[in-house]
Amino acid sequence: MRNSIVGLVALVVSFAFAGTVFADGAAIYKAKCAACHGQKGEGMKGMAPAQKGNEFITKGKADDIKKVIVDGRAGAAKKFKEFAIDMPKSGLSDADATELVKFLQGDLQK
Ligand code: HEC
Repeated sequence: MRNSIVGLVALVVSFAFAGTVFADGAAIYKAKCAACHGQKGEGMKGMAPAQKGNEFITKGKADDIKKVIVDGRAGAAKKFKEFAIDMPKSGLSDADATELVKFLQGDLQK
């Protein structure tokens, strides 16, 4: 009996862990992006551009978007004068950035 409880706990823990390995884009967005780009990707005046309805997201290549997320965009590479701050490097893994781009181009645009 005791062994099966231990086994069950181990199983539950491994499921919880799997959840963090395959993190979903919506959760990452909330935790790491919404503070600047808005909860629904609506952007923030003087802070960061909108993600929703933004052609760089809706029509852009996933790899180009991923590059901005992973490397950030600062200095001469900056595109917008109305936002004084840089797009910071996210520090996300390649896999997480891929999930995030799927969310940005998918559910966030709905
Ligand atoms: C500290 C505020 C801040 C945070 C946090 C932040 N960004 Fe940004 N982001 C910016 C700013 C400012 C720009 C505009 C940079 C420029 O002038 O080109 C930007 C630009 C972008 C762009 C390019 C948009 C375009 O039209 O060219 C994308 C894509 C983007 N951010 C995605 C994200 C994602 C995804 C996250 C979360 C991992 C995130 N950002 C977190 C401030 C932020």
